[in-house]
Amino acid sequence: MGRPTSPIIALPRESFLLRSRGLAFALLLCVGSSAGAYEPHVNYMLHCMGCHTPDGRGEPGRVPSVRDTLVPLASKPEGRRFLIQVPGSAQSKLSDADLAAVLNWMVDNLSAVPRPVQKFTAAEVGALRHKPLVAVKQERRRLIAGEP
Ligand code: HEC
Repeated sequence: MGRPTSPIIALPRESFLLRSRGLAFALLLCVGSSAGAYEPHVNYMLHCMGCHTPDGRGEPGRVPSVRDTLVPLASKPEGRRFLIQVPGSAQSKLSDADLAAVLNWMVDNLSAVPRPVQKFTAAEVGALRHKPLVAVKQERRRLIAGEP
């Protein structure tokens, strides 16, 4: 008769643990949102990390690594246009200012060899993100190869 009690006790304990973890996460997000918007690294976690992974390495065959490409691409105008117009960026739910901040955070934190590049601004993002990018993969190959 002693056994059936244990699952009954275990269940509420488990759900309390789940609730408190959820609470901790909610608090974490509140801290990030104290200025009215999330910090760039929180936005990266929420909107981009699922595909790009925590360190930007991506997933072979599905999501290319951005670790070696961010700095070279962000250093030339057509590369910057690509970084803004690529679907993951352009079609995200982030505002122009938040997307600019996430791109700056990615360049600074996910590049294998970080190098200071011109910061993305809300104005630059706003001017470019709504122009569609056709043939994304070919454009990426062309820009990385440095072809004209
Ligand atoms: C559903 C998966 C997915 C999500 C979510 C995603 N991306 Fe991407 N991202 C990709 C893929 C795949 C590529 C390669 C280009 C392509 O095929 O679209 C890419 C390429 C990029 C590139 C170009 C870098 C390079 O080296 O080619 C940037 C910049 C980028 N993403 C930024 C973002 C940002 C910022 C977010 C979040 C707001 C985001 N992505 C969310 C899948 C994703």
